[in-house]
Amino acid sequence: MSQGRVPLGPRIASRAERTLCKHPHVAADGIVVRAAEDSDRRSIALLLASVAEERDGIAAEPPIDVDKLATDWKIDGTLLALADGVVIGEISVDPSWMGFGEIGMMVAADWRGRGVGTALVAAAIEWARARGLHKVALSVFPHNQAAIALYQNFGFVEEGRLMQHVRRADGQLWDLIEMGLLL
Ligand SMILES: CC(C)(COP(=O)(O)OP(=O)(O)OC[C@H]1O[C@@H](n2cnc3c(N)ncnc32)[C@H](O)[C@@H]1OP(=O)(O)O)[C@@H](O)C(=O)NCCC(=O)NCCS
Repeated sequence: MSQGRVPLGPRIASRAERTLCKHPHVAADGIVVRAAEDSDRRSIALLLASVAEERDGIAAEPPIDVDKLATDWKIDGTLLALADGVVIGEISVDPSWMGFGEIGMMVAADWRGRGVGTALVAAAIEWARARGLHKVALSVFPHNQAAIALYQNFGFVEEGRLMQHVRRADGQLWDLIEMGLLL
C-alpha cells in the first residue's frame, strides 16, 4: 500500500502540530494547513460534493445542495489543507458540551496517500487540545481501511460497532465503527 506513496505525512504533521493555532503551516511541497475562513465555504462544499460522488467513504451521497451546504457549514473547528491556494482536504472537530469532539474529514481523491490526511488529523488533535477537549471521536465505515489505518496511526481505538446504522441511497444498510482517542 505504501509503495509509490510520497512519505510527507509525519513531516507535515509535526510542523502543523507546532504551528497551526498561531499561523498557517506551510510545508516544503507547498501544502498549507490552516483554519477555515468564511471565504472557504464554497470550496469546502464542492470538495464534499466530489467525495460524495464516490459513494464510499462518507455518509453524504449525491445530490448535494452545494449552496445550502456552503451556507450552513460550521467554520469554527474546520481546518483545511490547501495546495497552491486550492482546498484539497478538510477536517472538522465538532465539540460537545460533554468534553469530546466529533471528527469528520475528507481529502480530494487526487491527493490521497501523500500525507494530507495525516497532517489534518494532527492539526485537529492540536485544535481539540487547545480547546480543552478530553477526547476526539469519530464514526467510520468498516470497509474504509485507509481511514481506519490513518486513525489507528494516531492511537484511535475501536470502541464499538453500530449495526446496519446508515441507510444508503440504494437501500443498503451499512455498519459504522466508532473510534475514539483520549487526549
Ligand atoms: C481517509 C482519508 C482521509 C485518508 O487521507 P490521506 O491523505 O490519503 O491519508 P495519508 O496519506 O495521510 O495516509 C495516512 C495513513 O492512512 C493509511 N492509508 C492511506 N491510504 C491507504 C490505503 N489506500 N489503504 C490502506 N491504508 C491507507 C496508511 O496507514 C497511511 O499511513 P502511511 O502513509 O504511514 O502508510 C482519504 O482516503 C479520504 O478522504 N477518503 C474519502 C473520505 C473518507 O473516507 N473520509 C473519512 C471518513 S471516516
